[in-house]
Amino acid sequence: MKIAHIIPTFNERDNIKEMLDVLYDLSRKYPQWENIVIVVDDQSPDGTAEIVRKYTKDRLKVHLLSKKKEGLGRALILGYEFAVKKVKADLVIPNDADFQWDPRDYPKLVKKIEEGYDVAVASRHIPGGKVVGWNWFRKLNHEVSNSLLAWVLAGVHEVKDHAGNFKAIRVKGILDKVPLAKMKNAGFSFQLHILYELSKTTAKFIEVPVVFRERKFGQSKIGFNRYYLRDILEYIKSSLLIRYDRSQRFFKYGLVGLIGLAVQTLLSKILIISGMAPAVAVSIGAESAIITNYLLNNYWTFKSHVIEGGDMLKKFLQFNAASIGAVLIQGAVVWAGTGIFGESSWFIFMILSIVFLVIPYSYFVYNRFIWKTHQQKLYA
Ligand code: GDD
Ligand code: MN
Repeated sequence: MKIAHIIPTFNERDNIKEMLDVLYDLSRKYPQWENIVIVVDDQSPDGTAEIVRKYTKDRLKVHLLSKKKEGLGRALILGYEFAVKKVKADLVIPNDADFQWDPRDYPKLVKKIEEGYDVAVASRHIPGGKVVGWNWFRKLNHEVSNSLLAWVLAGVHEVKDHAGNFKAIRVKGILDKVPLAKMKNAGFSFQLHILYELSKTTAKFIEVPVVFRERKFGQSKIGFNRYYLRDILEYIKSSLLIRYDRSQRFFKYGLVGLIGLAVQTLLSKILIISGMAPAVAVSIGAESAIITNYLLNNYWTFKSHVIEGGDMLKKFLQFNAASIGAVLIQGAVVWAGTGIFGESSWFIFMILSIVFLVIPYSYFVYNRFIWKTHQQKLYA
């Protein structure tokens, strides 16, 4: 089996030599696999490429792809394409140069491929996996991109760790079906995008628990720097495109929500005009919107998981209970917000709570508990 290790580098002078050494030792230790290294360097000013070039003459088969600074995503796309088309690898294993993912874990990933899985993802989020030494900013970033954007918004549920680089991917029938040339990610949104593209093939996924350690040498290139905003916006854009692509369910859900709002507003208004007490009118309006939403979501948004017959009532009651959760969330946020910023801020807090909490919350509950769209996940 021919394994291509893809290592993107930007200013990794202090790490790259040791990385190549370790890969060399591993290739000695596992002679049953043919190991080839592809380093994709963005003309690092610190001379990373020089070290790699010199190494090529030595003992391990190393390809150096050198190009201008474009970001992690572009580097990986180029490396993947090279591995598939030029190296004609059977297996692709991307990893960072800085040892945060221990390259000595790679045989564990290969073992899963040999067992018949197609994509084995090194994971920090299944039992046995963990992260060492992140500050609150890093944690927050990761939670937002991994949980809120990748899991909830994009709806990529094949794995729990979407952000890492370290994984093993079978080429034949899987990676060679992915339109790499069409992928345009500049930054780390590539990691989510490639998982999504792989999920559209017949790939069987598995996660393998690993420990993500601190960097020993050099500095992280990903974080609050001049590419931060570009990369985050690209991540949000990718998540939205994936969501749109994936059965367009989220957009239908959004549209149903708007229809519900219209039903509630109109009906309440009509009832109040015809003399009903506003409190009663609004309650009837709200419950009517809940019924409309339930029916539209069932027969349209989630029609691939439609609820029928005896379950209709039971699920409708659950749906109502979920709506009470949404009411409580809004109440709590408006209470806290107006407590701090005064009564006049109620509207902004209502909108904020709907956009950032109620919409993701309801969508999550619907997918998870009402229409149960989840596939069973597989663990190592
Ligand atoms: N060629 C190239 N171009 N390589 C890059 C660039 C770039 O613009 N930016 C970063 N890299 C390389 C780094 O040299 C390193 O080998 C690897 O990509 C990861 O970058 P780090 O600087 O170590 O960032 P990190 O520790 O925050 O990375 C974490 O998040 C990434 C994005 O989600 C890890 O989990 C990575 O595995 C993950 O890809
Ligand atoms: Mn790193």
